[in-house]
Amino acid sequence: MCGIFGIVKKEEDNLGAILIGAAERLTYRGYDSVGMATISNGKIDLRKDVGKVDSVAEKYNVGEMRGQRGITQLRWATFGAPSQINAQPHLDSDGDMVGAHNGNVVNNIELRQQFIAEGLNVRSENDGESCVHAVERYIKKGYEIIDAMRLAYGDLKGDYAFVLAPANDDKLYALKKGSGLVVGIGEDFTCLSSDLPSLLPLTREILRPQDGEIIILGHNSVELRAITDGTVIERDPEIVTETMDSVQKGGYPHFMLKEIHEQPQVARELHNLLDDSPDIDEVIEKMRNARNLYLVACGTSYHASLAGSVSFAQLAGRATIPVLAPQFMPQYAPTVTHDDVGIFVSQSGETKDVLNALAAAEAKGMTPYGIANVIGSTLTQFTNSCLPLGCGYEISVPATKTFTNQVYNFIYLAYKMAGKDTAELKVVPELMEKTLEMVAPSVADLASTLDDVQDMYTLGYGATLPIALEGALKLKEITYAHCEGMLSTEFKHGPLSAVTENYPIIFVAGPNDIPLIISGINEVTARGARAIVIGPDDERLRANANELIVIPDAPEEISALLAVLPLQLLSYHMSVARGYDPDFPRNLSKTLTVD
Ligand code: G6P
Repeated sequence: MCGIFGIVKKEEDNLGAILIGAAERLTYRGYDSVGMATISNGKIDLRKDVGKVDSVAEKYNVGEMRGQRGITQLRWATFGAPSQINAQPHLDSDGDMVGAHNGNVVNNIELRQQFIAEGLNVRSENDGESCVHAVERYIKKGYEIIDAMRLAYGDLKGDYAFVLAPANDDKLYALKKGSGLVVGIGEDFTCLSSDLPSLLPLTREILRPQDGEIIILGHNSVELRAITDGTVIERDPEIVTETMDSVQKGGYPHFMLKEIHEQPQVARELHNLLDDSPDIDEVIEKMRNARNLYLVACGTSYHASLAGSVSFAQLAGRATIPVLAPQFMPQYAPTVTHDDVGIFVSQSGETKDVLNALAAAEAKGMTPYGIANVIGSTLTQFTNSCLPLGCGYEISVPATKTFTNQVYNFIYLAYKMAGKDTAELKVVPELMEKTLEMVAPSVADLASTLDDVQDMYTLGYGATLPIALEGALKLKEITYAHCEGMLSTEFKHGPLSAVTENYPIIFVAGPNDIPLIISGINEVTARGARAIVIGPDDERLRANANELIVIPDAPEEISALLAVLPLQLLSYHMSVARGYDPDFPRNLSKTLTVD
């Protein structure tokens, strides 16, 4: 997830060290490239490249950069591969304005074509450059910068924040729309950043711009203007007292909890990214016409693939073969032909098991596509095209927001394949918000009753089977208790013998399978088990279960997606109650690059 920082001083100063420091503080957000620009006496000095902050700073001698204003940006690739040219900040056509952004301009491709047709000098594929040209095109037509920014706002679709420094000026100009941006006020300087933690070592006097506001930073002035009519907005600064650690976690005690709560927002952003993806129609066409269509992944990404498989079948009538990546080799690789298509799914894009399967599939002539969160990762480079997840950096080892966006991605693709209107899915982020709100108290209570539990099951059927499997994986990963996920109807074929008085079994009930789930509930409660159900508010479930955690009413696939949220929260609370750190569970690694 990108981050920007900018600073305005009264006079020229040694800004290199300040920019390096700010960039270092933004690194926790994740990045692949870094750049710094300083502006001194009307001249822009721009240094940027792919790599870590310290190595880029050393290679380009950033420490020696001086100026009255400075900008740094950490890039997490979404539009355009990680490369020096795509790294930010970017210059305008004539090199007399520099700027950088955070977020996604979803109509980037269309805008670039317009800029090129208008004769602007477009150097990269990156949407940060589009922010600079979007303002430049109006300045060239004679508009003042503020009006040019207001007009650019109408052209730039998506969620973003950007900062600009015209060379012959002494101010920074920024705009906030959907992405984070915070202003810091110091003695004889002002600064802004994508997030609060990077400002805190410099100042604790903070001003929070809102979406739809332009920010004008002078060395001793901060002006906010409404994007709609340019009027000045009055807002008082505040003094921040929190520690850096708690601020980095957005006020949450752990990254996992923060990332759980980020899920509605990243789903919203993913929807925009997919609406504007140039690759989607080709991917759908190839999938539709494939002889065999494989969904290949490991761990949480495999569970998302199982959910995808149900969505493709139910929504689009398309059969798929979801398979754990290492098993792909013995079980399917020998049968693969040129008419087969594979979707390789991985948060990191670096899982060795998945890359091995990809190599085996390609050797047999399969057409490979990808779904990955980390753009520029190996998977994105070696698949024909790779659809985004748009989650930004997921720090916590247990995957949460990348899982829900993988599932969302598959539902979106299934809608498209079925010719259904994907705009109907725009309610999903709101339903996710509602779910988090509804389940929070009951899940916290439930967790407190499971303190001593070392063994349990999560059961689902149809669209909720993958959710039960994912819930079990989350519980195993961070509570260190044994939890097995399985098809509810299979429980009677053996595991039922484990049931004793009060044995906890979590059922995930979909709206269309309630009678079947109720049979399962009664099979276990008759033998003394404690049946906890996650499902819609249904009298039958209420009457049969020991406890019901209610999620909002929604169609089957979406209901299943919502049902994972209480399971993520339950695992989180149980982990914390046991004294473990859910962000960094023992023995596990976020990216497994070994066989
Ligand atoms: C590791 C992680 C899991 C993850 C799996 C697949 O085992 O601990 O959380 O689900 O790898 O990772 P991927 O990056 O390919 O989605």
